[in-house]
Amino acid sequence: MPARMLPPSGDPIRPLPAEQVALTFDGAEFTGTRGQTIAGVLLGSGVLSWRVTSGGGKPRGVFCGIGVCFDCLVVVNGQRDVRACQRRATDDDVVTTQNDPLPLRPTADMGSEVGHD
Ligand code: FES
Repeated sequence: MPARMLPPSGDPIRPLPAEQVALTFDGAEFTGTRGQTIAGVLLGSGVLSWRVTSGGGKPRGVFCGIGVCFDCLVVVNGQRDVRACQRRATDDDVVTTQNDPLPLRPTADMGSEVGHD
């Protein structure tokens, strides 16, 4: 019998029932399926962006989804610079937005204060 004709009850893989995972994002609770990334939980809940750019204040969320672009940075349990597309959500994760202002541009009179000559 070809594989495509297997009845579901005869499927040898038999995936386990999905378990839920719950996290908070900026104080609100979200649930997803265990195994999802933080970005997956947020996107699945309808949250499309969770930080803004430093320069223009433009919304950002997932861009590449594979850990390359760093557009999805969040703070997780106090740890900064976590890529939401790479970190699996775990129960009781506390996720907050990470918005950083641009660093000051060094000027001639700031030289000695910032370690430049
Ligand atoms: S979306 Fe690109 S690193 Fe996460």
